[in-house]
Amino acid sequence: MDRVLVIDDELSIQTLLGRVLAQSGREIATVGSGRDGLKAAADLAPDVVVLDLRLPDASGLEVLRALRMRDPEMAVVIVTGYGEIGTAVEAMKQGAKDYLEKPFDNLDKLRLCISRTLEDVGARRALQRLQQLQARKLPQIALVGDSPATRALRDAVHRLAGSEADTFLILGESGTGKEVVASCLHYESPRRTFAFVDVNCAAIGDALFESELFGHERGAFTDARVTKPGLVELADHGTLFLDEVSELSPSSQAKLLRVMETRSVRRVGGTRDIRLDVRLVAASNRPLGKLVAEGRFREDLYYRLNVIPLAIPPLRERRDDIIPLTRHFLEHANVRFHKIVAGFSEEAERHLLGYPWPGNVRELRNFIERAVLLAPVEVIDVEHLPPLDGVDGVAGTPNGRSLAAVERAYIQLVLRSVGGNKSEAAKVLGISRNTLRGKLEDGETA
Ligand SMILES: Nc1ncnc2c1ncn2[C@@H]1O[C@H](COP(=O)(O)OP(=O)(O)OP(=O)(O)O)[C@@H](O)[C@H]1O
Ligand SMILES: [Mg+2]
Repeated sequence: MDRVLVIDDELSIQTLLGRVLAQSGREIATVGSGRDGLKAAADLAPDVVVLDLRLPDASGLEVLRALRMRDPEMAVVIVTGYGEIGTAVEAMKQGAKDYLEKPFDNLDKLRLCISRTLEDVGARRALQRLQQLQARKLPQIALVGDSPATRALRDAVHRLAGSEADTFLILGESGTGKEVVASCLHYESPRRTFAFVDVNCAAIGDALFESELFGHERGAFTDARVTKPGLVELADHGTLFLDEVSELSPSSQAKLLRVMETRSVRRVGGTRDIRLDVRLVAASNRPLGKLVAEGRFREDLYYRLNVIPLAIPPLRERRDDIIPLTRHFLEHANVRFHKIVAGFSEEAERHLLGYPWPGNVRELRNFIERAVLLAPVEVIDVEHLPPLDGVDGVAGTPNGRSLAAVERAYIQLVLRSVGGNKSEAAKVLGISRNTLRGKLEDGETA
């Protein structure tokens, strides 16, 4: 949304400019004095100010100086009366972008001047953002994994990120990579130079929801000393990531629904709706559909969110990702801890493959980091693996169980992790199917 602020005391000029400059995707505000102009410039953050040099309460040059002092990038187009060209030249020297002469007999010239200035402002801002991004480097986010599920997800994310789609819903257990997918949807899109705004719905209470998300006007409540744009507004042209969306209260759900229906927000204490171009990515580690059935999540909001659902399976259902992820995290850990661990032994990798990873990728990552940090050697073997939850005696400290008991427990664990598939389990265990069958039969009689 482009914002144009007109500062002119003549009502006929206000009306004319309002009418001539109006077009979709553009918002025009008008004020009649220098004082109101400065206040409106601070509140509205216009892209272009059209400023009359003759104002009732101040000279236009003073207002121009004040505007540019507050924001040196502010684009100001001045309006001069017939024969005031000298003042116009002075204003240009002080940083005005262009000038228009009254009376406006050529309306196309007027339109063109404002459109050009807006384009110029847009291009300049885009360049600034790119330079800023280069300075701090775009975050390197990789969706690692070789499993069919992850390959398909990576392809979908890549394709959808660049599309016009503006609503996504990511579902998956805790630690499966929902935030990684959300960031990819942003950083692989043309929106990448704009903001990725991360909102944890579980952490925003009902009382603060509106002012945090929609912002507030100065004086809207006791603490509102300045006008503050909300998180949704900050995500304009970028992405708003609504994490743990299932945790919103019913009243916050209703407010979010309105944003989704109108694609606009109204600041607390404000009187106008601000139209926004925001990509909304919601995530939940609780099954939203089920919460709807139980009456704990609004059905209409669910349908609004569930336009493009992306489900991330738990890590135990995509075991082909475990080794690629392990290598990925190993490299990171080496850099982070100044280590030169080369990798894991085959047997150690088999342990990683057999473990069910209830904490998903996050647990794997923490585990690899611990292993690398503690590794006394270049190749991590089973005996160097830190303890894993539930894998008694396989790694970690001895606990007095017999080898056969440990073996049985481990076989059961592996079987569970592959959904009971014996051929798969045998592969993970590095034994033949027959040997596995034998061991299982021994287990039954033992
Ligand atoms: N496919 C992947 N490739 C690389 N890293 C990943 C992948 N999936 C997850 N990770 C890493 O695992 C950790 C957990 O991922 P993330 O925070 O995205 O999970 P989440 O689903 O948002 O979890 P939660 O529900 O707890 O918020 C992060 O450190 C993330 O970088
Ligand atoms: Mg998360």
